[in-house]
Amino acid sequence: MPPFSNDINRPASRKLQPLRALVPFIRPYTRTLLVAAATLLIASSAMLAIPLAVRDVIDNGFTAGDLARIDDYFWLLLAVVLIMGLFGAARQYLVTWLGERVVADIRDAVYRHVIRMDPAFYETTKIGEVLSRLTADTTLIQSISGVGLSIILRSSIQFIGALILLALTNPGLMGIIVVMLPAVLVPILWIGRWVRRLSRDSQDRIADASGLATETLTAAQTVQSFTAEDTEIQRFGEVIEISFQTAVRRIRARAVFSMVAISGMFTALIIVFWIGAREVLSGNMTGGELGQFALYAMFAAMSAVMLSEVWGELQRAAGAMERIIELLEVEPNIKSPQHPVPLPDTRDGRIRFEDVSFSYPSRPGIAAMDQFSLDIQPGEKIAFVGPSGAGKSTVFQLLMRFYDPRAGRIYVDGVNIADASPQDVRGRIGIVPQETVIFGASARDNIRFGRPDATDAEVEAAAQAAAADVFIRALPEGYDTYLGERGTRLSGGQKQRIAIARAILKDAPILLLDEATSSLDAESERLVQEALEYLEQNRTTIVIAHRLATVLKADRIVVMNEGRIVDIGRHAELVARDPLYARLAELQFGESNNPASAAGLVEVLPEASSR
Ligand SMILES: Nc1ncnc2c1ncn2[C@@H]1O[C@H](COP(=O)(O)OP(=O)(O)OP(=O)(O)O)[C@@H](O)[C@H]1O
Ligand SMILES: [Mg+2]
Repeated sequence: MPPFSNDINRPASRKLQPLRALVPFIRPYTRTLLVAAATLLIASSAMLAIPLAVRDVIDNGFTAGDLARIDDYFWLLLAVVLIMGLFGAARQYLVTWLGERVVADIRDAVYRHVIRMDPAFYETTKIGEVLSRLTADTTLIQSISGVGLSIILRSSIQFIGALILLALTNPGLMGIIVVMLPAVLVPILWIGRWVRRLSRDSQDRIADASGLATETLTAAQTVQSFTAEDTEIQRFGEVIEISFQTAVRRIRARAVFSMVAISGMFTALIIVFWIGAREVLSGNMTGGELGQFALYAMFAAMSAVMLSEVWGELQRAAGAMERIIELLEVEPNIKSPQHPVPLPDTRDGRIRFEDVSFSYPSRPGIAAMDQFSLDIQPGEKIAFVGPSGAGKSTVFQLLMRFYDPRAGRIYVDGVNIADASPQDVRGRIGIVPQETVIFGASARDNIRFGRPDATDAEVEAAAQAAAADVFIRALPEGYDTYLGERGTRLSGGQKQRIAIARAILKDAPILLLDEATSSLDAESERLVQEALEYLEQNRTTIVIAHRLATVLKADRIVVMNEGRIVDIGRHAELVARDPLYARLAELQFGESNNPASAAGLVEVLPEASSR
């Protein structure tokens, strides 16, 4: 089951509820918000003062022909306009700053959360989906927590202010407006909910598209080598088309919304003017009063239209926030206990598996580890051998505590790893994986990943020990050469040596090695082997072995099949007594490492025992 649903038929959540989650993100900036609100209040009050002046100019200035009075008023108007400009700009700056700040914090929080999620989460979640929530959804929040908020505040103040001043100007006309208001507002609110639901769908479809794109772009070479570009273009095109159509439905709803809002609002306005004009003619009202009333009514209507527009935006932001909250609420399966037991400082590198059984969450029926028990002494060299799917890599996954066993316990240096903090456990383990991960950074920084506080000299010493120094220095900019995303600028053997240098730098008491199955040329092979030999000194080492040389120098070979330990011993005795091992040895080591096949094994043995 996916950790969060991406389902079109989700039940509509209540209104703007999700936006409440924004409060903790805005709270640290309450001061900025208050200052913004103050500038807003000043600018809006200035604006609301204009109609008062207009009425006086019409009623007294023009009629009485009083030039000095008119001059005064225009100076006043000029001052008002200046205040509006100045405080309006301040408001805009503060509020946009707030929006950017809040979104930056949300992105930070989301990243902080997902980078800690366990592999089970990434098995069911597309990276692109997470990225889409991290970028596209937060952008929607940005518009609402900044500019949107400003429009809401400004329009609300103007709307309420204008209504109050309308009531003071002419209570009769105001009464008519109050009666008409619900007729306009109810449909607006109703259509708003529709917009929000479609908006959420629209964001979901964008996430689908970015999920698909991330997946295929990171494997562009594979796509090309299978000449599957056209298929992928078509697949992406279909997803984009669906997202476009969902967007069109959203825009359509939005258009209906604007139509109802604008025409409703201005119809109400015209009706009021009409009645007002008749009042002036019948002598119940002065021309100036109607002018003032008209301006306030315009303000009120414009603010209401603005509010209804923002209402639609708010609905969109609520949909986006809903998606972000979902992501933030997924709990990692692997958590540090409340009071983690610290691992002893001796850093021995002792490992103990006690009756460990485990199935992957996505395949509960199959036992990836079955009653697995093994004691490994400090400094011991263990080789795991077994057919593909035997559960060898799974042992590593559990030892690093990426999953918890279904039954049984795993101890590192005498502490049950379920009681320790995962960071503490992982800090004791160096791993050289089958496929090296190279980051889009310099060679130096890629090695330093093993221990971020290492000095340049330490990085270079590690590279030397890993037989990587020579080739790194030959790169165009030496250690500062950018290695390309995923290390596209390095050969397989070079990448491996970078990974080994990383592990050397980390200097952990336990070393896990998933031997690469891809064959290197003899020279690279020799360099990698030498680097590994250096690395394995004085460390507890578990190697998933694919090479004869590796099993020959192991203290014990553990033969695995279907999650169980089938046999444990040295190479010679296992070849003699264990049929599964004998067959594997012939297939894996005999063929690839020694063309003389199985017979060759025996020839190498005496050499090994002389080590
Ligand atoms: N993430 C996963 N989700 C579900 N099942 C998995 C997962 N990883 C491995 N498996 C299954 O668990 C079993 C053991 O897999 P594992 O990767 O440990 O095998 P292995 O011995 O390392 O094989 P290989 O030599 O091919 O690397 C296999 O049946 C495999 O299909
Ligand atoms: Mg494996």
